[in-house]
Amino acid sequence: MQNDQSTIPATDPFALFEVWYGEARASEPNDPNAMALGTASPDGFPSVRMVLLKGHGPDGFVFYTNAESRKGEQIRANMRAALLFHWKSLRRQIRIEGPLSEVSEAEADAYFHSRPRVSQIGSAASDQSRPLPARHVYLDRVTALEERYPEGDIPRPPHWTGFLLSPRRIEFWSDREFRLHDRRLFTRDSEGEAWSNTLLYP
Ligand SMILES: Cc1cc2nc3c(=O)[nH]c(=O)nc-3n(C[C@H](O)[C@H](O)[C@H](O)COP(=O)(O)O)c2cc1C
Repeated sequence: MQNDQSTIPATDPFALFEVWYGEARASEPNDPNAMALGTASPDGFPSVRMVLLKGHGPDGFVFYTNAESRKGEQIRANMRAALLFHWKSLRRQIRIEGPLSEVSEAEADAYFHSRPRVSQIGSAASDQSRPLPARHVYLDRVTALEERYPEGDIPRPPHWTGFLLSPRRIEFWSDREFRLHDRRLFTRDSEGEAWSNTLLYP
């Protein structure tokens, strides 16, 4: 029988996230910051897709997107979400849930303009999630923006923005032998409140 101790310390969950994320950055072949984002429509239908983690710290976890996309509409109607990291090579999962808030315009501008010009153009040209009659229609819009802004930054479209998830639950899952896995859940009712934690049956 394996060691009876949990390998997931009952520490500050942000500090533990930092350790696991650092190990993922060192070991994952690509996109260690990729995470599934779960949102729900106003009538409660869930929907999930991948996004990239672009900021994190004690305030929470930030991603950027088009707020007029399908996810954006769901977020606008229901400012709550769930995030999921799965790092296959580490056999680890982290689940995070909580309310969302929009980042400031200054933060969104700073991140948008930190991206390569082509990425800025690609985002500005995209009516994300809406029907595209043919791929060339999108590429024509890219070309038109390239011609309109031959150099320098592209203005950030107002609907291209970031969201901060302020966690209320963070669960760490680690693979153990014979599927006797290890789970520790951290919870708090509001931001600023101390975290409680418990082990969970796998
Ligand atoms: C690894 C990966 C990372 C992605 N990162 C983002 C992202 O940071 N922001 C984003 O809007 N879409 C991102 N996408 C695309 C989304 O998964 C999705 O296709 C798009 O946002 C439209 O989703 P929606 O129709 O639910 O709004 C990513 C896709 C993959 C596979």
